[in-house]
Amino acid sequence: MKSLLLPLFALTPLFASAEKVELRTPNNSFVLDLNKGAEPQFLYYGPALHAGDINHLQRFSDPNWSRPEVYPAYGAVHTQSEVCLAMRHADGNLSTHMLIEDWTIAPISDQAPNGASRKGNLLTVTLKDPVYPTTVHLYYQTYEDVDMMEYWTDITNGEKQTVTLTQFYNPLLPIHRDNVYCTHFHGSWAAEAQLVEDRLQNGMLVIKDKDGLRNATANRNEVMMSLDGPARENEGAVIGASLLYTGNYRITIDTDDSDYHYYFSGINPDNSEYHLRKGETFTTPRTALTYSTKGTNGVSQTFHRWARKYQLRHGNQERMILLNSWEGVYFDINQKGMDQMMQDIKSMGGELFVMDDGWFGDKYPRLTDNSSLGDWVVDTNKLPDGIEGLLRDARKDGVKFGIWIEPEMTCTTSELYEKHPDWVIKAPGREPVRGRGGTQLCLDLSNPKVQDFVFSVVDNLLTDYPEIAYIKWDANAPVMNHGSQYLTKDDQSHLYIALHEGLIKVCQRIRAKYPDVIIQDCASGGGRANYGLLPYFDEFWVSDNTDALQRIYMQWGTSYFYPAIAMASHISAVPNHAVFRTTSLKFRCDVAMSGRLGMEIQPKNMTDEEKALCRQAISDYKSVRPVIQFGDLYRLHSPYAGDNLASEMYVTENKDRAVFFWWKLETFKNQHFPRVKMAGLDPDRMYTIHELNRIDNKPLSFEGQSFSGAYLMNTGLDIPYSHDVDYSKLNDWSSRVLLLE
Ligand code: GLA
Repeated sequence: MKSLLLPLFALTPLFASAEKVELRTPNNSFVLDLNKGAEPQFLYYGPALHAGDINHLQRFSDPNWSRPEVYPAYGAVHTQSEVCLAMRHADGNLSTHMLIEDWTIAPISDQAPNGASRKGNLLTVTLKDPVYPTTVHLYYQTYEDVDMMEYWTDITNGEKQTVTLTQFYNPLLPIHRDNVYCTHFHGSWAAEAQLVEDRLQNGMLVIKDKDGLRNATANRNEVMMSLDGPARENEGAVIGASLLYTGNYRITIDTDDSDYHYYFSGINPDNSEYHLRKGETFTTPRTALTYSTKGTNGVSQTFHRWARKYQLRHGNQERMILLNSWEGVYFDINQKGMDQMMQDIKSMGGELFVMDDGWFGDKYPRLTDNSSLGDWVVDTNKLPDGIEGLLRDARKDGVKFGIWIEPEMTCTTSELYEKHPDWVIKAPGREPVRGRGGTQLCLDLSNPKVQDFVFSVVDNLLTDYPEIAYIKWDANAPVMNHGSQYLTKDDQSHLYIALHEGLIKVCQRIRAKYPDVIIQDCASGGGRANYGLLPYFDEFWVSDNTDALQRIYMQWGTSYFYPAIAMASHISAVPNHAVFRTTSLKFRCDVAMSGRLGMEIQPKNMTDEEKALCRQAISDYKSVRPVIQFGDLYRLHSPYAGDNLASEMYVTENKDRAVFFWWKLETFKNQHFPRVKMAGLDPDRMYTIHELNRIDNKPLSFEGQSFSGAYLMNTGLDIPYSHDVDYSKLNDWSSRVLLLE
């Protein structure tokens, strides 16, 4: 029995009674049963327990009915159910049994991966195998100021010889079988983060990634589990979980013949068995976990708050409005063209210009996507005055300057590959498989020399040109064949894990030396939207698909775990380059404004009227930027509801200002929409309505009128279904952005 003195931990109290250990965040309790010599068991996760409630939580003793052990290991007693750990001991024995040796709990104050300092409590449970010298620590760390917990493990080999880990999930989370629905996100290039909701049934729900490098393109490693029926936005108990990892992962929710669903999360063990040498320790990536009684929005708001504070770079700094050159000029980069784009974005009120792909390559200039990655020197045919010339123009034009790189990649047609063919990923004895442009290859970041090179790409740019304010870091290829020319033949299965350790090491070096530069995480669009990588980045490119209509769906899904400040969202040309849809410019502005606003267009091809509308959108966005970038998101009406409408709003923490978005998804005659009820307002406060990005000839009937928060939340406003514009300007798109203050 252990007992703890409490007064130190007033903000995130923790209690220990008998072997029950309670961890607390501001509103939640998490309880484990930690009985020495036994396996650790799960007892409770949910709203903060009242004094005495903990006494009612009982250790399970009948293994036939429930299996609430949080760290089952394979083979000694767990052979039929799913396990967290499986390993081959040095003598070939496949059985492991992890029992509690001891546990400690203590306040912790450390540095979050984005550099912020954080406080909470850390529970460490030490497990030992009674027969083999294998040690596992389970860690559970709380935050004192946000309802978030993180948990992970480390595994130490005390044997005289190497052991092999074949499965290494984090501790599992049992979820009682009530009426549980799981929301998760799948996608593909240009169609990221599509939402699906499955009722958990007997069997397994497996969500996984094996891309090797871009783990968020196809499936996201985040889930929300609604405990009492299909998820609702503002009501109901919902657990949200995210694996903080940028490599191959596997999330498994197993439902067997017991009373629970079991949520497992961790590195994908496929083709990744890990050889742990004598005395070595393997640490797993963390899982972040929250519980809300306020529906999916409650979970989203917690993740957003936590992310802005602890998991994103500069999450408390307003983002600049930028023009990115890609869809405007593609590879057609030249000094005059860049200068013109800088002047144009400045004239519309923008603050930053980013030169995308196509600026580099000496022996092999990057004219299209089939060469030059790795040769990060300016193509002086296109840019005779080099980056100095671009910075000079940026200074003259009054904008900041940013640049695109793809530093983990090379091409068979490149000087880098000619010099270092041994730096690429390829299967031994085979030709490397080539990706984009028929030439692209991935560099092998398990190799420290490659890590130095990738670091030097950023280091050289920022040392030579400290005025560069922004870097767009791209990654446009998966691991296409398995093989490291650096790892030994015995350790080839370490490739996927070692690549990501290498990448994170490089990112840490970059951030240690360049804490201020803004870096966008891009991977063929949203391929690396994950909280494993984001602590070193400021934002991510949501998708290469900039079509405003499809963006509503993708940004909706993305918003479940990621805040608007991190979601780069750009106004682009029509017909859209990905889906060839023509939407109105007003609609494109109104969608882009719900994230981190930017432009992805050739302003030279815009009419004066179009430029004026964008100028207005940019100026309106500036007036509400803190509300959108730091406010609480309330999703109000889902585009997935099937009635051609989507709506959401952002509300400041003290509820004095809000921005409401309303988008019509399709137009039919005699169409009827539900009146959207707002959320998150102060019922007793009066809010005056002002339309932003207005194009109508006449103001809305409620323009300048005041309504109580209660009215707006109980009744809502009658939004007209179309715009009141001159006949020649009528089209089928309709959307509204309203400021409430
Ligand atoms: C990827 C990115 C795009 C653009 C191109 C450049 O596809 O997602 O935004 O930077 O590469 O080649």
